[in-house]
Amino acid sequence: MSKRINAILKYIEKDDIVLDVGCDMALLGIELAKKEKFSCASDLRKNIIESAIKKVESLNLKKFIEFYVSDGLKNINNPKINTLVLAGMGAHLIINIIDESKLKYNKIITISNNDHYVLRKYMTGNGYKIEKEEIIFEKDKFYNLIVFVKGKEKYSEEDLIIGVNHQNILLLNKKNEYIVNKYKKILNNIIPEKDRKRIERLIKIFEVKR
Ligand SMILES: C[S@@+](CC[C@H](N)C(=O)[O-])C[C@H]1O[C@@H](n2cnc3c(N)ncnc32)[C@H](O)[C@@H]1O
Repeated sequence: MSKRINAILKYIEKDDIVLDVGCDMALLGIELAKKEKFSCASDLRKNIIESAIKKVESLNLKKFIEFYVSDGLKNINNPKINTLVLAGMGAHLIINIIDESKLKYNKIITISNNDHYVLRKYMTGNGYKIEKEEIIFEKDKFYNLIVFVKGKEKYSEEDLIIGVNHQNILLLNKKNEYIVNKYKKILNNIIPEKDRKRIERLIKIFEVKR
């Protein structure tokens, strides 16, 4: 099982009825089904859903997964769903999909490919707080899982940049070190003064050991 799927599973609780948006081959749904836990899975691409259904049928797990072909949440009609998983997509697509949900879901688990600051800022400005975060390292890449739940909390700019309640501090520090090195390489080039100032400010924040 992939480390990313394994990490998502840790944050799914007994009463969560999950919709995995952009499920691809429904790997998350399959792991939940193996534990006899029902979930929903959707993807934009019809052919992917057809392949996922075949796979799930071959494993004899079809009764545990409800499939949808859907662009975001457009065709989703199961009122029991209370938890969204959005993984392997860009932050802006994730935000568009959540915006479309009228913010009715209790819990939203994301693994965005980029722009975690933008995602945290949008979510915490729209009725959610950050419950937990976890850095995952898989196939030479860092991933940042975030669990948002309904609620209100104040966050500093630094919180929105680094994240809060990180569960794996060792990997968080490694990821931040990697980012600092990346930024330092950029500073070796000739860049506009305002970009230099912004990057220097970010380096100071990312350099702090947590
Ligand atoms: C990189 S895959 C990630 C698969 C899986 N969630 C994971 O994390 O391993 C992204 C998936 O999102 C789907 N997708 C892209 N845009 C979408 C949208 N607007 N609505 C639903 N699914 C979408 C793609 O078809 C693709 O299967």
